[in-house]
Formats: sequence, C-alpha cells, structure tokens
Amino acid sequence: MARVELKGLRKEYDGAVAVEGLDLNVKDKEFVVLLGPSGCGKTTTLRCIAGLEDVDDGEIHIGDRLVNDMSPRDRNIAMVFQSYALYPHMSVYQNMAFPLENAKVVEREIVERVNRTARLLQIEGLLSRKPAQLSGGQRQRVALGRAIVREPTVFLMDEPLSNLDAQLRVHMRAELKRLQKDIGVTTIYVTHDQVEAMTMADRVALMSKGVLQQYDGPRTIYDRPSNEFVAGFIGSPPINLVPCDLQDGGTLDAGEFQIPVPNQFAGPLKRTACERVLLGIRPQDLTVSAGDSSGTEGEVLQRFPSSSVPAEIYTTEPLGDATILDLKVGAMLLKALVGATFEGDAGTQVVIRFPPERIHLFDRTSGRAIE
Ligand SMILES: Nc1ncnc2c1ncn2[C@@H]1O[C@H](COP(=O)(O)OP(=O)(O)O)[C@@H](O)[C@H]1O
Ligand SMILES: [Mg+2]
Repeated sequence: MARVELKGLRKEYDGAVAVEGLDLNVKDKEFVVLLGPSGCGKTTTLRCIAGLEDVDDGEIHIGDRLVNDMSPRDRNIAMVFQSYALYPHMSVYQNMAFPLENAKVVEREIVERVNRTARLLQIEGLLSRKPAQLSGGQRQRVALGRAIVREPTVFLMDEPLSNLDAQLRVHMRAELKRLQKDIGVTTIYVTHDQVEAMTMADRVALMSKGVLQQYDGPRTIYDRPSNEFVAGFIGSPPINLVPCDLQDGGTLDAGEFQIPVPNQFAGPLKRTACERVLLGIRPQDLTVSAGDSSGTEGEVLQRFPSSSVPAEIYTTEPLGDATILDLKVGAMLLKALVGATFEGDAGTQVVIRFPPERIHLFDRTSGRAIE
C-alpha cells in the first residue's frame, strides 16, 4: 500500500514561493501527472516528496507514514530524471545492480532481480553493453530498470522522455504507461507536455505559479476546465477565449457579434451576478459552413442573436488529417478545426456556429468557470 498525500505543501527559495498550499492525494497504484509550464513548481514538488528538499510548511505522507523528517533513503522512493545519469564505465548489468549492491542485497537475489527487470524492459540482450553503445531509448530503459530493480513503493519521474526524439517519445509513452500498470507502482510523473499528461495519466494535476489549478481525470480537465488558465493550457489548437458582456441577462455581446446565453448558464449567471465574462469555445467545437452573410440573412442574424455568426476565412492551415481555419469576425480572429476535405480559401464567406452545449464561460475578473 503506497498512497501519497500532500497537505498544504509550501516551499520557498530565498523568499520566493515555488510551491504554495499544495494538497494532493495519490491513490495506491495510481499514475498521476504533474503538469504545468516551466517554473510552476513541478520539480520542486517531486524533490520535496523524495526528501531532497526540506519543506517550509505542510505534510507529506507516504503509505501511512508522515515522512517529513525521514531521510530520502528511508522513504523507499525511486526517482527517474530527464538526464539518465548512467555510470559510463559500467555495463548495463552493473548499472542496474549498483543500487542493490549499495543496499547490501545478497548476490543471488541481485542476479535474479536484474534479469527479471531486464526481461520486463526487453533489454536482456544489452546487459553487457556500456551506455555509450546504446541508443537514447535504450538508455532510458536502463535508467528505468535501475529504478525498478529497487522495487520502490513510489516512482517519481521528472520529464523522463524529454531527451528523446518525437517518434521515440510517443513510443515510450505508451510503453511506460503499460509498464506502470504491469508493475502496479504508485507513480508521480512530471511533464510540461499536455499531450503526454493527457495520454498517460489516471489523473492530471495542473499547476501554475506554484498553485494547483485543477486535479481531475484527463477527460474532465478537457471537458470541464475549472478556470481560464486550465482551459487555455489544455487543448490544441488552444481554446478561443472572447471577452463578452452580458446584456439583458440573455445575450452575450462580444462587440463583433452577439449570441444567446446558452440555457445551462442562465441560472449560474444570475446566481453569480457576473456580467463580464470570457466566452470559451474550442476550435474543434466551432462548426463552419459555407454561406453568404450579405443581404437579408445577415440582417436577420444581427437583429435576432442566434448561435450562428457570419465570418470570413482569413487563412487556412492544413494539417493533413484536418485543417485549422483562422476566421475573421469583424476585427476579431477565431480558430476552428475542420475536416481535411473542407473547401474554402482566404476571403471565402462562411457562417460559424457556437453549439450552445460546447460553450464555456469564465468570470473575467476571477477567471473561474461559471457553472
Ligand atoms: N534551487 C533553487 N534555488 C532557487 N530557486 C529555485 C530553485 N529551484 C527552483 N527554483 C525556483 O522555483 C520555481 C519552481 O521551479 P521548478 O520546481 O524547477 O519548476 P518546474 O519544474 O515546474 O519547471 C522557479 O521559479 C524556480 O526558479
Ligand atoms: Mg522541472
């Protein structure tokens, strides 16, 4: 049993706060990803859990023990870093056996554990090689192997794939996810890459400036971002965020266009008395259809706000399997993601629609989701 629990964790460096009031519970065998931009406090959090940093406030529990005052070696944690730090003069076998020799494990058991781990990682054929004779991906596996042989109760991984090329990273991310489930070790994994987080995590803890913003499953983080920061960080291309004023309680006025307030927000908007909002709509959720907005149709659209708005294609960005459209609505630019077969070039008039059920609203002052 190795759940990890952080309560009110706080860490400063020379008076500058790196992590603030962090509460996080990680269940036994769970794969949790700490995600956030560079400098948001991910590595600091891991180092506190590992015992490599003293905390300024808060509690760290591993299993049923409060470990704040426990030395790193007694916490039974293995950490894998971005730089693999293998010993260059030792063979793969020796690299993996080293932590066990240090821990005075008997020789027979060392042989058995190294071989079993090598089989698991499919590096049995490499045991006599030196690190210089390995590819990047193989070295990464050896670094993992060296962590796994110790049979830790918790894995901490700090951007372990970021030195690999893009293709290998995609491959290793699936392997690592599978491996974690196979060996069933509670894992806290740090990355700044939202795709890595979304694809690997049971739950994602998204941080900004040392503060936890949301802690949920990947689907929930994407579908129901708790604030403007989360909405903007997750998703590619990024969500469109448009400042709007609420008019007569029933219309969202973006200046360049007006759409009706979706039903699900009527109650929450009244309750919060919020009149200045950010309208969020993901490029994947905007629908775009061919259409001429001039003449009567345009007038009708203007007089009766509907969820359809006339726009002009400003530029197209083909991705191969889909196309990003940059759309001009007056002076405003919005992005939409459409199928690769979409026909239309710069200058084409279109009608875009904001499906009411796909709209997000945030309080413009606090950034918090209105729900
Ligand atoms: N040893 C240190 N001394 C002083 N400041 C540090 C130290 N380590 C980290 N910081 C600061 O703490 C903040 C969080 O850093 P870090 O945890 O490394 O972020 P991340 O891993 O998310 O990129 C940053 O502002 C960083 O400059
Ligand atoms: Mg870091």
